[in-house]
Amino acid sequence: MKTDPIQRLEDMRAEARLGGGEKRMEAQHAKGKLTAWERIELLLDQGSFEETDAFRRHRSSNFGLAKQRPLGDGVVTGTGTIDGRPVAVFAQDFTVFGGSLAEEHAAKICKVMDLSMKLGIPMIGLNDSGGARIQEGVVSLAGYSEIFLRNTMASGVVPQISAIMGPCAGGAVYSPALTDFILMVDGSSYMHITGPDVVKTVTHEDVTSEDLGGAHVHEEISGTSHFTCDDDAECLARIRRLLSFLPANNTEEPPITVTEDPSDRCEALLDEIIPESPNQPYDIKKVIHAVVDDGDFMEIQKGFARNIVIGLARLGGRPIGIVANQPMALAGVLDIDASEKAARFVRFCDAFNIPIITLEDVPGFMPGTAQEHAGIIRRGAKLLYAYCEATVPKLTVVTRKAYGGAYCVLSSKSTGGDWNVSWPGAEIAVMGAEGAAKIIHRREIAAADDPIKREAELVEEYRDMFANPYLAAERGLIDDVIIPSRTRPRLIRALQMLASKRVSNPPKKHGSIPL
Ligand code: HXC
Repeated sequence: MKTDPIQRLEDMRAEARLGGGEKRMEAQHAKGKLTAWERIELLLDQGSFEETDAFRRHRSSNFGLAKQRPLGDGVVTGTGTIDGRPVAVFAQDFTVFGGSLAEEHAAKICKVMDLSMKLGIPMIGLNDSGGARIQEGVVSLAGYSEIFLRNTMASGVVPQISAIMGPCAGGAVYSPALTDFILMVDGSSYMHITGPDVVKTVTHEDVTSEDLGGAHVHEEISGTSHFTCDDDAECLARIRRLLSFLPANNTEEPPITVTEDPSDRCEALLDEIIPESPNQPYDIKKVIHAVVDDGDFMEIQKGFARNIVIGLARLGGRPIGIVANQPMALAGVLDIDASEKAARFVRFCDAFNIPIITLEDVPGFMPGTAQEHAGIIRRGAKLLYAYCEATVPKLTVVTRKAYGGAYCVLSSKSTGGDWNVSWPGAEIAVMGAEGAAKIIHRREIAAADDPIKREAELVEEYRDMFANPYLAAERGLIDDVIIPSRTRPRLIRALQMLASKRVSNPPKKHGSIPL
């Protein structure tokens, strides 16, 4: 007798949902990991998931694979909504061939990536994979290449978010690296191009996967990841929050929300926050929290290049990107890591129509052979390039120091800043008063009866003359000097004014950024 077609469909769905079977699911749970299905359910609005390609199977017969043809081929793909907004998603199923990627698995991912481009909706990848499926050989590699091509084409068109929720080795790391944001789960995920065994053979190092490419390594040392999460649930919740700041694609504006936080709120704390001595640090995050809506700031790459703080927030309900020097770390100096961290973020914001607010307190670029030899010229230039080419509204508040090349780089008026202001105690100059006075008065100091006293006098003289915002204001290089406590209302008004900004760069295939 013919099987009831509806029953057959239901049986096949149930089979697909079993993935690699109960035992492997239990093993997944034992590692503190959720299954692909559980992850999708937590990520998306309840009941919103529409699956595609649940019945796709591989066609390989190598190494006994003909007898093992699980439905879905180790990846769950489809669309759904987050806070009512559509997204495309794939979740690799580690219970099926270790989530490894082969021809059909890759084709499913490509199909949903194509859909995300066609619909102009964010693409979210939940990665948990042993890399290229060894049994399928070169077609697995071709599958990766197809994905890389799509990641690159989608870059700057739709937001792409990668969660690393298990092993990610070999080819599996490069697709996430091409996307806008990487989230890693602490303790259960890692990313490396070759595993500990290969490392041992080639470099004779003994290293664990965790020490080679765990969440902390990539957040704090390599700068590859953007967020470290305690567990799968937190990781998925963060993706939802991250998307709340972003437009669905590059032709849309980021979503404006209603805020209860008054747009004319002043913060007296800011009038007192700058210490007496210019060499005393203060926490720029306190400034950020005081200014943005509800003090709500989603910091990105928290552990990497702590001398610069980047992240997303809202002002008057409008999403903004913040780039801020952090005087608490290396005095807020710009070094290679800080430049690259901020440059990437500035370009991301520009691609997705997110205005950039720069809070500037920078003593300059980091001097020394280590930085020079590692290429601070070409790598620092990335930040300069990113700011210069950005056409979104660019607002800069100099809270204290804006010295030298770093002044130019950080969205200065002459590089296209739209609204550049400073706090009244700011010092906008070629360099700090001590250094400047020593250079221009070298002979006079050397010839003085009391060189130390004379030097101190000349430093003070220089500070009075140049270490203030009024020379810059006199030349129109800043638009205004503002009272710190009024920073929030002034920024909100400027943002509203700049909402109609329409500027485009000269037509070109693409620029040649010093990569
Ligand atoms: C096929 C794989 C697989 C793979 C894992 N499995 N990786 N099957 N191809 N690449 C299978 C295992 O055989 C096993 O099947 C199941 O997945 C779970 O694997 P375990 O080893 O039992 O799990 P675990 O101990 O957690 O270790 C996970 C792992 C390990 C660290 C990912 O499996 C591993 O090292 N795999 C190989 C990683 C790798 O070298 N990949 C190729 C990278 S090269 P059963 O049936 O027992 O459940 C690459 C090149 C692409 O990707 C370059 C493109 C640019």
